[in-house]
Amino acid sequence: MDRATVSLIVLAAGQGTRMNSDLPKVLHPLGAAPMLHHALRAGQSLEPERVVVVAGHGAEAVAKAARAFDESIEVVVQAEQLGTAHAVAQAAPLLADAPGEAVVLYGDTPFIRPETLERMLDLRSRHAVVVLGFEAADPGRYGRLVTQGEELDRIVEWKDATDEERTISLCNSGVICAEAGLLFALVADVGNANAAGEYYLTDVVALARARGLSAGVAICDEAETLGVNTRAQLAAAEAEFQKRARTAALEDGVTLTAPDTVFFALDTFVGRDAIVGPNVVFGPGVTVESGAEIRAFCHLEGCHISRGATVGPFARLRPGAELAEDVHVGNFVEIKNAVLDEGVKVGHLTYLGDAHVGEHTNIGAGTVTCNYDGVMKHRTEIGAHAFIGSDTMLVAPVTVGAHAMTASGSVITENVPAEALALGRARQVTKPGMATRLMEMFRAAKAAKKKKETP
Ligand code: UD1
Ligand code: CA
Repeated sequence: MDRATVSLIVLAAGQGTRMNSDLPKVLHPLGAAPMLHHALRAGQSLEPERVVVVAGHGAEAVAKAARAFDESIEVVVQAEQLGTAHAVAQAAPLLADAPGEAVVLYGDTPFIRPETLERMLDLRSRHAVVVLGFEAADPGRYGRLVTQGEELDRIVEWKDATDEERTISLCNSGVICAEAGLLFALVADVGNANAAGEYYLTDVVALARARGLSAGVAICDEAETLGVNTRAQLAAAEAEFQKRARTAALEDGVTLTAPDTVFFALDTFVGRDAIVGPNVVFGPGVTVESGAEIRAFCHLEGCHISRGATVGPFARLRPGAELAEDVHVGNFVEIKNAVLDEGVKVGHLTYLGDAHVGEHTNIGAGTVTCNYDGVMKHRTEIGAHAFIGSDTMLVAPVTVGAHAMTASGSVITENVPAEALALGRARQVTKPGMATRLMEMFRAAKAAKKKKETP
């Protein structure tokens, strides 16, 4: 079947009062990404022609987050939140003439699955309007779906429902799809004569039926429709996200030694046959190639780890860390904005920032790139097959050539040519027998002090 042309409308204007926050609700982080990105990602699977985000509270920040997800996303501002139909109507000037389907998602409902959206589009061959519903364990204040056999008759909001209607357990998720032109025509007819005084998007079902059109329900698992309204629900959503991410990683052929202790971000990619040890945290923007190993207690963000590389235990990779194949990064090593070519070894207690290290170079324990002078950052260039002695301070900007060595304990302030040995440390002075004499002096001084204090 040909893919339908789709326009996506993501509602994200609400304040989220119950979050008790200055941050707009849809920008609260979930899987190290703004909550909004989760809905956008689900919608993206439909390969939409256009994506319109309806922003309101914190519109500027919401627009920025939307564009960070995808430059081509359009944002309209709903200045006053008069209801979900009013929110959709804000997209009309952009999309009323759009061909194909319009799909409405909520920015605060992160778990709708791409397959579910596909099923909704498929059902459009039988109904003019398709609503996503679910059987609620506790229907609470959800809108109720009033059905007659296969047909969806109307949606009644909890506030407006009769006692009998409130016994219905089939609820509205909020996701809806219809031909774009029809959706906007129906939305234009929605009024606000109801208990909340709002323009309900849910009214489009009854309006479509009044035009002799058919409406239907696609049913999904309740877990997919989990919305976030409070911090407690945000925490529950995070737990749910992590659970799904761990399951997905295991299914993708990643070994997780202790899955419950590994935390993923929305965009984490870990290749097949990679191994991730206990207590590893993935921040945004991490890609780990097949067969790499991340040992226990690592914190990674904005970095790329190639095939055959090992990282940790206890390593921190920050944005711009690029590890080529077979690189070894050991314990208590921090790497930021640095490219490590194939086979580089950085075993212990090291900081590499704003640097490039050539292939098969060995970085000794306690090496520091002194990259920051308090005002500006400077680069360190280290060639291939070099040997940086333990406890070398590389005062950037500085270059160490290929096959060069630095002596342990050196402070390197000048460029080191290829194949040279650089020593940058004070000369050692050795005094025979002096250690014993010194200790005797100290003990005598201590005894004299004690005698003076005791009367
Ligand atoms: C809505 C549905 C209800 C459904 C429930 C599922 C309506 C009238 N009701 O109710 O049937 O069971 O979702 O969670 O649609 N928004 C705007 N602008 C507005 C109003 C809302 O952008 O003017 C956005 C909100 O930010 C939110 C979404 O739309 O992301 C849903 O709004 P909300 O007020 O939470 O709707 P509910 O009352 O929960
Ligand atoms: Ca809600």
